[in-house]
Amino acid sequence: MRDRWSSRTIFILAAVGSAVGLGNVWRFPYLTYKFGGGAFLIPFLIALMVLGTPLLILEFALGQKLQKGAIHAFQHVHHRLGGIGFLAITASFIVVVYYAAILAWALVYFVKSFTFNLPWVGDAEGYFFGNVLQLTDSISQIGGVNWWLFLALGVVWLAIYYCVRKGVDSIGKSLKILVPLPLVLLGVLLIRGLTLEGSLTGIYYYIRPDFNALLSTDLWLAAASHVFFTLSIGFGIMIAYASYNDKKQDITENSYITSISDAAISLFAGFVVFAIVGYMAHSTASTVADVATAGPGLAFVVFPQALSMMPLPWLFSILFFLTLLTLGLDSAFSMVEGIIVVLGDFFKATHKKLAMIVCGSAFVLGIIFTTRAGLYFLDIVDHFLSHFGLVLVGLFECIAIGWIYGPEKLRTYINSVSDWHLGAWWDYVIKYFMPAVLIILLVVQMYHEFTVPYEGYPIWALEVGWLVVIIPLVIAIGMALHGSKTSVKCCKK
Ligand code: ALA
Repeated sequence: MRDRWSSRTIFILAAVGSAVGLGNVWRFPYLTYKFGGGAFLIPFLIALMVLGTPLLILEFALGQKLQKGAIHAFQHVHHRLGGIGFLAITASFIVVVYYAAILAWALVYFVKSFTFNLPWVGDAEGYFFGNVLQLTDSISQIGGVNWWLFLALGVVWLAIYYCVRKGVDSIGKSLKILVPLPLVLLGVLLIRGLTLEGSLTGIYYYIRPDFNALLSTDLWLAAASHVFFTLSIGFGIMIAYASYNDKKQDITENSYITSISDAAISLFAGFVVFAIVGYMAHSTASTVADVATAGPGLAFVVFPQALSMMPLPWLFSILFFLTLLTLGLDSAFSMVEGIIVVLGDFFKATHKKLAMIVCGSAFVLGIIFTTRAGLYFLDIVDHFLSHFGLVLVGLFECIAIGWIYGPEKLRTYINSVSDWHLGAWWDYVIKYFMPAVLIILLVVQMYHEFTVPYEGYPIWALEVGWLVVIIPLVIAIGMALHGSKTSVKCCKK
């Protein structure tokens, strides 16, 4: 008997908890800033509605209808297509390996905040790169394991294991804390941020529309690939989570609730980030443009510095890093659960044992990110997976459903259980529009890779990034050529 969520609310909390994560707090605000403030919101919301939500509906419908994890679900579509699920769960595995490393950094900052005398005051950048990461000068110098990060990573993995060990039961319990808590914390940080001088300049920067930016293809590409990451699409997670629903759950409503909540929390987090960045620009007499920075730098350099300039800095540091940890933890364990569901479809082992195997092996693999060159590896792997890995899975999913399974067949099921009925537009989006957009996205991205090597890394390092995408792809192609001997039947009602 398949496990079940204890209620529909818990399923929605699980899906929202997976979608809302580190991507909402540092990736989204940074992209918004980089691509002309308010102008980024337009392609982001369009991509969310025309790419993200239809694909989320597809993943929810597939998992719920077939009651299987990603590999068996696609094997049911066609016995040669299990590799699509394999690609999805390998993407999930690799992302969670480095995602946990980022949570380990947050844990180090969280613990250090309790010293009341924040060690990064005056030089947040030096502290992050020099003390926390002990970063080497280049990726070619690995520099050995940084034992503090190793320890923190171990604690993060124990926490992830604790949340997933009993499947839906332990996940459901964790979600009751991990979804609302960071929202309350973000609310506290927003109120604090808005009462600081200069915050409105930051917010103006955030929402100021620069419509010329809409003409940039990079802007649209960035918005489209961000939607995959932020909605946890292409990981196999949403297929696995929906497979714990009974077959009568309302799919369209669940999908819109998940994607709208994710977008709303991203927008909200943007206000928090830019209010505080505005304050920092004001205090250091610089501009918001000088202060706002990319990815990890925003969360681990700009924020610690800004927090250290506030009254009661230790308190707001504790709150901020607790927000990051609680936001990230439910996204991280959703990636693990997506993999466990697939393994559970193949092996008879208990949930606990599978959780131990996945968490243990991800921890061991994650040691690479605790070396003193870990940040470089993380940057490369994140770049290749988010720009190619997830998008490829999305493309194959659309081809499998659009051209082999038949979108109208899946839509008939969706409409039979949902209050909001999908029109024939959804079939066209899955069959023609999405594949066309995703192929363009991949081709343009590929062109970028070969014309400008990413961040000037040495070729061997970029080859590692390519291998992370290509090895699972080759295995998926092998699975397609070989085919599965037994075709996977859909579960009984
Ligand atoms: N969807 C998760 C995030 O945004 C992975 O962090």
